[in-house]
Amino acid sequence: MDLQSLLEKRRTYRKFDESKPISAEDREAILQAVQTASSGMNRQSLRFISVESQEKVSRVFDLTHWAASLPADQGQPKPGERPVYFVAVCAHEKSSPFVDVDKGLAISNMTLAAMDRGIGSCIIGNFNHKKMQELLDIGEGYTCNLVVAFGYPTITSTIKEVAAGEDLSYYLDDDGQYIVPKLKIEDLVRRV
Ligand SMILES: Cc1cc2nc3c(=O)[nH]c(=O)nc-3n(C[C@H](O)[C@H](O)[C@H](O)COP(=O)(O)O)c2cc1C
Repeated sequence: MDLQSLLEKRRTYRKFDESKPISAEDREAILQAVQTASSGMNRQSLRFISVESQEKVSRVFDLTHWAASLPADQGQPKPGERPVYFVAVCAHEKSSPFVDVDKGLAISNMTLAAMDRGIGSCIIGNFNHKKMQELLDIGEGYTCNLVVAFGYPTITSTIKEVAAGEDLSYYLDDDGQYIVPKLKIEDLVRRV
């Protein structure tokens, strides 16, 4: 896939084929993508938890909330549609002031590497942080405020250019496929 197509296809997916596992090789490719990410001061203070057992995946899923912009029966994956793999992103309390940028870069690399292999993802910040901390036994001095869900998508998600001021909420079209409004470059960038 050429880069532009990959960037467009790497959307947020919230419906997966739960019967299709992600191979160990593909999991390694997703994790390997973290190593090449830039890091403020090159501190590399992030740590990642690869949630591989299906029992743990299911327990992580139960703590997460999906698609706040949609009615609950539309956004939350139903049985059979749930992700099959999670990566939790953990930051040390003594991280560099740029740690949130590091998280974004690492997650971007992982989700792009996944999509390059046909695997969709959803970044999730809306979950029960305390219970996640306990469930994943996140180490002393670390916190986790983002997890990334992965699976083979069974829906499409397409970006749609909108003008500044228009509604930016994502929605489902008549066929139940995601449409994600994105601002035009002219509205995002000021050229000087
Ligand atoms: C930091 C961050 C946190 C997010 N948290 C959630 C979440 O808790 N639940 C969810 O369903 N989607 C979550 N998303 C996905 C966004 O809703 C999604 O990125 C946005 O709607 C744009 O869609 P796109 O990723 O296809 O461009 C999150 C995305 C980011 C970057």
